[in-house]
Amino acid sequence: MINRRVGIIGAGAVGATTAYSLSMMGICKEIILFDIVEGVAKGKAIDIGQSTHYSPRPTIVRAAKTPADVENCDIVIITAGVPRKGDMTREDLLLINAKIIKSVVADIITYSPNAIIICVSNPLDVMTYVIHKMTGWRPNRIMGLSGALDGSRMAYQIYQKLGYGAGQTGALVIGDHGQNMIPLPQKVQVGDVPTTDLLTDEEFVEIIERTKNGGAEIVSHLGTSGYYGPARAIAHMVEAILNDSKIIVSSSVMLNGEYGYKDVTVGVPVILGQNGVEQIIQMTLNTKTREKFKASVESIREGIDILEENGFFK
Ligand code: APR
Repeated sequence: MINRRVGIIGAGAVGATTAYSLSMMGICKEIILFDIVEGVAKGKAIDIGQSTHYSPRPTIVRAAKTPADVENCDIVIITAGVPRKGDMTREDLLLINAKIIKSVVADIITYSPNAIIICVSNPLDVMTYVIHKMTGWRPNRIMGLSGALDGSRMAYQIYQKLGYGAGQTGALVIGDHGQNMIPLPQKVQVGDVPTTDLLTDEEFVEIIERTKNGGAEIVSHLGTSGYYGPARAIAHMVEAILNDSKIIVSSSVMLNGEYGYKDVTVGVPVILGQNGVEQIIQMTLNTKTREKFKASVESIREGIDILEENGFFK
């Protein structure tokens, strides 16, 4: 891509750390940060911009004063949202974040009409669905961060069990980016050796559970959710798109018959390149995994139904 301009909406923990990761990788010409809270994007853009003095290639990092300043981006990353607070129900959170996404997306349509959108805001799969419906764009241009992050968490757990093979471990998580996610450690390899030759059934069960609780574990120690892992996973996706790498990364995408489902956004392996989602990879799933995938899809549809019942898409 010629411009290599990336917009980040929401300059909180994940948004700012994504800008930092991207600028340390030196893969963008320009990163534009926007946040609804005045001063946040400006302060972080100055700090990150100064850090680029030591990065391998120059990156211009600047803050947008208004959504109109996030213009003509190749990729826009949406991290805007509010976290769940004390008395908020899941439904409350869903409606609040969906409204935020709606307004953010209206600006992207106006100011970066050719962009590829990566959704990060939670609940991830439902918010990604909202972006599809609000834009009406071709589905390849919209995807959500799920498997790239959950996969890195699974690879981490495999290493914790084995104590060797760091950096040589495959990563494969499909389904929703929540409690019904489906880590598939049995399907990956460590340095070309199938994990089924390295780990016991009990160890697989533990790796799966720990991967599913990967986010919650960080919260239990920090009191806030993680941001280094998410940011680096987003940067991995951005790099694949900007460089047209055509690598396989699991992401939340709109299905149109693949895996037996339509009109739902859920995590599956896809090929990422300059057009965004270049292709959805159809894996053969065994009966047990197909059942889990069904449960995953149903949990996402419950969220979509709540929005529909509240007249959100009218
Ligand atoms: N436009 C722009 N920015 C917004 C808007 C909006 N309409 N609404 C909220 N924001 C900003 C907030 O001001 C905040 O700076 O989004 C930022 C969110 O950052 P954090 O609260 O630090 O949350 P973070 O940990 O970065 O997570 C961002 O990713 O993993 C998901 O669930 C998480 O939805 C959340 C998102």
